[in-house]
Amino acid sequence: MRMELVVAADENWGIGFHGTQNLVIPEDRRHFRAVTGHGTVIVGRRTLLDFPGGRPLPKRRNIVLSRDPDFAVEGAETAHSVEEALALVADGDPEGVFICGGESVYRAFLPYCRRAYVTRIFASPEADAFFPKLEELPQWRLVDPGEDREHQGVRYCFQIWENNGHWLERPQGPSGAGGF
Ligand SMILES: NC(=O)c1ccc[n+]([C@@H]2O[C@H](COP(=O)([O-])OP(=O)(O)OC[C@H]3O[C@@H](n4cnc5c(N)ncnc54)[C@H](OP(=O)(O)O)[C@@H]3O)[C@@H](O)[C@H]2O)c1
Repeated sequence: MRMELVVAADENWGIGFHGTQNLVIPEDRRHFRAVTGHGTVIVGRRTLLDFPGGRPLPKRRNIVLSRDPDFAVEGAETAHSVEEALALVADGDPEGVFICGGESVYRAFLPYCRRAYVTRIFASPEADAFFPKLEELPQWRLVDPGEDREHQGVRYCFQIWENNGHWLERPQGPSGAGGF
């Protein structure tokens, strides 16, 4: 299984405020579409609500995490736990499986990801949702800092980080290395 993640994070690793993205860069949306292609996206229920019209993303297989046994949305499959989501993608998608947020889902799946596509936005808007600080996690390293770009005076770049060989393929037991 090739599992990767895609995130846009500000300079403090903030990713959202009041349920939505705190800074939107149009080129980042195009980058997101190019990276996720026709693959599988895994998102939390709150992030799904923030998609246009609260609808699953077109042209991709959508898996939504919710603990609500009655949760269902047309055009998406529901997983009620990390284990259930992993089972749904266990056969592997040749186009890739992408963790697309929000905070709780990034934290739960980070140990399963080999690579992180991080749009780093050099600004510090107010945030109440955060991505783990990758530079503080020893197994993650910046392999491509991306070139400097600018949108309306805000600097950003498309970074690639990689997990240095210790990602999980399946859930560990209570004593396993599930954290990060
Ligand atoms: N900058 C970016 O790239 C980016 C990308 C995505 C999202 N975001 C931001 O992130 C914020 C949302 O993050 P969030 O953490 O509040 O919400 P979230 O992760 O999108 O969704 C949380 C919900 O997902 C379900 N869930 C999470 N973990 C689960 C598990 N292990 N098993 C079953 N269900 C699970 C639960 O749904 P139920 O309540 O239905 O049980 C939970 O309430 C927003 O501000 C959003 O804009 C930013």
